[in-house]
Amino acid sequence: MELHVKKFQDLTPEEMYGILKLRVDVFVVEQHCLAPELDDRDQDAIHVWITDEDGVQAYLRILAKGVEHSEYPAIGRVLTSETKRSAGYGRVVMEEGIRVLTETYGDVPIYLEAQTYAEGFYGKFGFKKVSEEFILDGIPHYKMVRGAGESGNEDTAVGEVPAKVNFRIVEGMSQIQVEDVARLLKTTYWAGQRPVEKIEKSMRHSDCYGIYVDGEPNLVGFARVITDYATTYYLADVIIDESQRGNGLGKTLVSYILASPKYAGLRGILVTKDAHGLYEKYGFERQDGRFMSKI
Ligand SMILES: CC(C)(COP(=O)(O)OP(=O)(O)OC[C@H]1O[C@@H](n2cnc3c(N)ncnc32)[C@H](O)[C@@H]1OP(=O)(O)O)[C@@H](O)C(=O)NCCC(=O)NCCS
Repeated sequence: MELHVKKFQDLTPEEMYGILKLRVDVFVVEQHCLAPELDDRDQDAIHVWITDEDGVQAYLRILAKGVEHSEYPAIGRVLTSETKRSAGYGRVVMEEGIRVLTETYGDVPIYLEAQTYAEGFYGKFGFKKVSEEFILDGIPHYKMVRGAGESGNEDTAVGEVPAKVNFRIVEGMSQIQVEDVARLLKTTYWAGQRPVEKIEKSMRHSDCYGIYVDGEPNLVGFARVITDYATTYYLADVIIDESQRGNGLGKTLVSYILASPKYAGLRGILVTKDAHGLYEKYGFERQDGRFMSKI
């Protein structure tokens, strides 16, 4: 068994391929999860992994403060290859990850988003549950923190609200009824008077995203993106049904859209009267008046 610690820039092509292959094998194929495994966070991460005679067997990455959590550095993508579980690899990679993180960032609290079934695993390394269960990429998770003291509810501590209901995000017009979008937009200050025909036409020429929650057959949230896919995208008509506000769905929808590789590297723009705080969380900066942009 051999331990390795490297920054992205120092990984050889073979090492990177081995790591990404194992991550895709576990998080996409084994867990049947259709979420972007390559999320553009690897470039600034520290990668910790274990190899043996059969190649890469266990892995995690360390993210700086401000990437996954606003105040703490984070550990993520923790895994052991399916064939080597329950043999101690997970323990070794976690202990090394915590050691490297502490050496790099000091003795600070550490954040992670744990799949609920692995709560006990992380508990062995001092992580404590600090949130209710929430759904991330279709999988139940808890937020966990190590070293932040006994008290403190993560949700209030960082002002974040995880999605508190089970939800499903859909893309494209085939899964979104125009009438549902019209119903949602009718309540807004910017599109309350927009005729249904205009809404339908705007949807046809945009990337549309909708959000549904368990137990509610109708669409509860919507957003669309207008883009040339080359230079700029415009995030528009972001709306969550009034009855579902406060459940974290707005943030969930916006972060889902912004994580899409389709818009990576493009300049983002949007217009808002009162939601600057939400978009600032995702790197948008206030420009003149209602305009915000993100490089
Ligand atoms: C979670 C995971 C990384 C554990 O790796 P592993 O190599 O099997 O773990 P280890 O054999 O080193 O176990 C270390 C300790 O944790 C315990 N443990 C392992 N999985 C556990 C779980 N799901 N719940 C509670 N305890 C667990 C072990 O019993 C062992 O305890 P001990 O040291 O007191 O004997 C592994 O199950 C995995 O890769 N799962 C798929 C990927 C995934 O879902 N990762 C989590 C993403 S949040």
